[in-house]
Amino acid sequence: MGATISGLTAILLAAGKGERAGGGIAKQYRTLGGRSLLDHAVRSLARADQILIVVAPGEADRAALALRDMTSVQIFLTGGTTRQESVRKALDHLATLPSPPSHIMVHDSARPFVPESVWERLVAALENGAVAAMPVLPVVDTLVRGTSGIAADVVPRDSLYRVQTPQAFRCDALLAAHRAWPSGENATDDAQMLRAIGHEVVMVDGDQRLEKITMAEDFVRVAALNGLSIGTVPDIRTGTGYDVHRLVEGKPLWLCGVEIAHSHGLSGHSDADVAIHALVDAILGALAEGDIGQHFPPSDETWRGAASLRFLEYARDRVASRGGRIGHIDITIICEAPKVGPHRDTMRKRLAEILALTPDRISVKATTTEGLGFTGRREGIAAQATATIVLNG
Ligand code: CTP
Ligand code: MG
Repeated sequence: MGATISGLTAILLAAGKGERAGGGIAKQYRTLGGRSLLDHAVRSLARADQILIVVAPGEADRAALALRDMTSVQIFLTGGTTRQESVRKALDHLATLPSPPSHIMVHDSARPFVPESVWERLVAALENGAVAAMPVLPVVDTLVRGTSGIAADVVPRDSLYRVQTPQAFRCDALLAAHRAWPSGENATDDAQMLRAIGHEVVMVDGDQRLEKITMAEDFVRVAALNGLSIGTVPDIRTGTGYDVHRLVEGKPLWLCGVEIAHSHGLSGHSDADVAIHALVDAILGALAEGDIGQHFPPSDETWRGAASLRFLEYARDRVASRGGRIGHIDITIICEAPKVGPHRDTMRKRLAEILALTPDRISVKATTTEGLGFTGRREGIAAQATATIVLNG
């Protein structure tokens, strides 16, 4: 039996925090190929009569700024603390309309590219009378159960599918399914809620280009699947850092994560590894994410006596969470003594281990100041660093 589609509204979910993707900015506001993911998603839903864009509380202005073109078919709504609640808020809005649409597509902005073919298959399913339809992909890997790192039975995969969005529904059925869903139970998509009240959910062929961006590395993969030139126009950043610590007698001396035998050591809140502090600032600088003091305040007792390598690991992870990689680092240590030369390769090796780089991307240099200034008087050691970082998108 055919169905008349008298109005198709898309609910575009963009109220998540994007925690797993990291990067300090919720993923829907990050850019690929010069447009925000949200903008890509809105464009790929252009065939809907109306788009309800569900954003986190207080973020309507931010969302509007993330769109290149605003049109009258876009309406911003405030979402909830879970995906399910965000859908529910959009449905509450629809329920107040004098003439709600006949059909709804619920879509994740974390899947910014909806191929026309998928849209057409979903609409065709609705026109054929389906109450619910969703795109799926077959599972291609072998699936196995396992506990504590030990594999158990293989799970037959021929009747298993990976579920994508947009998911298409008759509006009245979607409203009823949300009303009937037990409060306190989490549903990760809407089709399962329709099934729970006895509706059949039709599966149509999904598409790899619809893969969800969940982790930092997914940006590059999804961009490549959609033919965006992300890899060919890398976003290369350079940051610089500078730090000084006072030399005092009888303290251990740490430089570049290596303990060096010397009459004096550096004083500071942490282990006072001046070279690593400069390097961390260089990395944070390249990311435009403030400085070491902001991320590890000296007032915080947690970091008293801490190994500075912890700060470097943190900076390394900030780069990874932005989908980037460190291309090269260059450190200059400024002191009269000790001599850095004999330790240079150990230092490069140590930094290489922490940063998961080959030592040929790590330069450690040293200079004296010819007896001039505070370094010349051996009152302290200074270090400066540059970091070159390749970000994608
Ligand atoms: N979503 C939403 N409201 C929420 C939670 C999620 O609208 N309270 C949306 C997200 O914006 C995303 C989609 O649901 O487009 C799928 O969720 P997910 O991939 O989990 O995104 P996030 O929740 O943002 O990411 P994370 O779980 O890593 O924090
Ligand atoms: Mg989530």
